[in-house]
Amino acid sequence: MAALIRNGRIVTAVDDYVADILVDDGRIATIGLHLDVGGDVEIHDAAGLLVLPGGVDVHTHLDMTTSTAHTIDTFGSGTRAAAFGGTTTLVDFCTPLPGQSPLSALEDWHRLRETACVDVGAHMVLLDANPGTLGEMHTLVRHEGVSSFKLFMAYPGVLMVDDGALFKAMRVAGANGAMTCVHAENGSVIQALVDEAVALGLKAPKYHALTRPAILEGEAVHRAICLAELAEAPLYIVHLSAAQSLAAVTEARDRGIAVHAETCPHYLFLSADEYERPGFEAAKYVMTPPLRDHSHQAHLWRGLKTDDLQVVSTDHCPFCFSEQPHGMRYSKQQGVESFARIPNGAPGVETRLPLVFDGAVVKHGMSLNRFVEITATAPAKLFGLFPKKGTIAVGTDGDLVLFDPVERWTIRAGEHHSRVDYSLFEGRELTGRVKKVLVRGQCVVDGTRWLGRDGMGQYLRRSESGQS
Ligand code: URP
Ligand code: ZN
Ligand code: ZN
Repeated sequence: MAALIRNGRIVTAVDDYVADILVDDGRIATIGLHLDVGGDVEIHDAAGLLVLPGGVDVHTHLDMTTSTAHTIDTFGSGTRAAAFGGTTTLVDFCTPLPGQSPLSALEDWHRLRETACVDVGAHMVLLDANPGTLGEMHTLVRHEGVSSFKLFMAYPGVLMVDDGALFKAMRVAGANGAMTCVHAENGSVIQALVDEAVALGLKAPKYHALTRPAILEGEAVHRAICLAELAEAPLYIVHLSAAQSLAAVTEARDRGIAVHAETCPHYLFLSADEYERPGFEAAKYVMTPPLRDHSHQAHLWRGLKTDDLQVVSTDHCPFCFSEQPHGMRYSKQQGVESFARIPNGAPGVETRLPLVFDGAVVKHGMSLNRFVEITATAPAKLFGLFPKKGTIAVGTDGDLVLFDPVERWTIRAGEHHSRVDYSLFEGRELTGRVKKVLVRGQCVVDGTRWLGRDGMGQYLRRSESGQS
């Protein structure tokens, strides 16, 4: 059925005006004043509300197996949670098992993503740069719509590649019109610090942060940029958390190098103080990179303002705090005896849009246009999804969020739709709330009511990445 959104204040990265939007057959058919429509149309009154393009979150780990753990959200639960938070497009990380080829990993990923309720694309994690892997990159970009690759400079023995492999992959990615995403931390030095701490009996969750200092992120970001510059390939730094890293990105962008970066809500709003929580509670905040001290936050806000940071994504990588009812494989409790065994990652897909609205627009005076840009338009452009996703215009997908900019509410994990059992932001009061969400014209969220269904999400074959 067609949908008509009446009298909303339409905000994109460049526009801000009041009009009606008619969505027909999944796409925006007409935008205009006082649209006159026939009978078979679902009407949504948006008077007093913002109408935003559906959020685009380009960093999630749904139904992901690691060497010791498994993320608790399926594509069904994770995308439902995303929709309730105003995000209608995800680009998720497809992570091969050790020894598995990327194309085989993508087949497995497709089986899992069949339950998605919003549209999803895939980044491919590369565990090596062997000839077979490099050979598959062209097929992934040109035939499978996977136009971005992630490599790890951290987690030695598990995910980390050496600089030569990173450089080789960057060159092939760049030549194929693909983006290289990098998890930038100096994994070898971190391992030395972790081994030292464990040997000294320093095993509480806070040592996760103390063994991954910001300088080692800054060093790796600088190194990744040098390699990308030499490879003449676009680079995207994922989950940037530290002032040193941002300084390296800023310096490179000022020289015209194609370096891009995202940060995440937890780095903007939380600090290493969380690691002082009593008992094992601090394990909830064990993600990589770790939370930094407060001083880094002003730098991140500066980066968002001056476009040295282009994107806020979530790195939604949820593990339960409790062992019950899902079992140890899904739980932070694995690390009760040592921080080194706590599964790394935290939830966030449902709270990104309202947190950034409250923090950026309400508290930091960011313009509504820039808010839309960093949460929808820029990620869609950088990852080959624009203009299908990330804006509101005739012909684009009818992914729309009706957002009340003044309603106050409080984050409660108990009211969330993820399968995870906690929120990093429990009890935080926000101004601005998602009221309705449409995915390709179909209303899937109406207040607290879920109207979508598992499997309605489509696979997004992305075009070339790395353009902004
Ligand atoms: O702690 C994190 N970030 N876990 C997810 C994997 C990654 O490095 O993005
Ligand atoms: Zn990472
Ligand atoms: Zn991640």
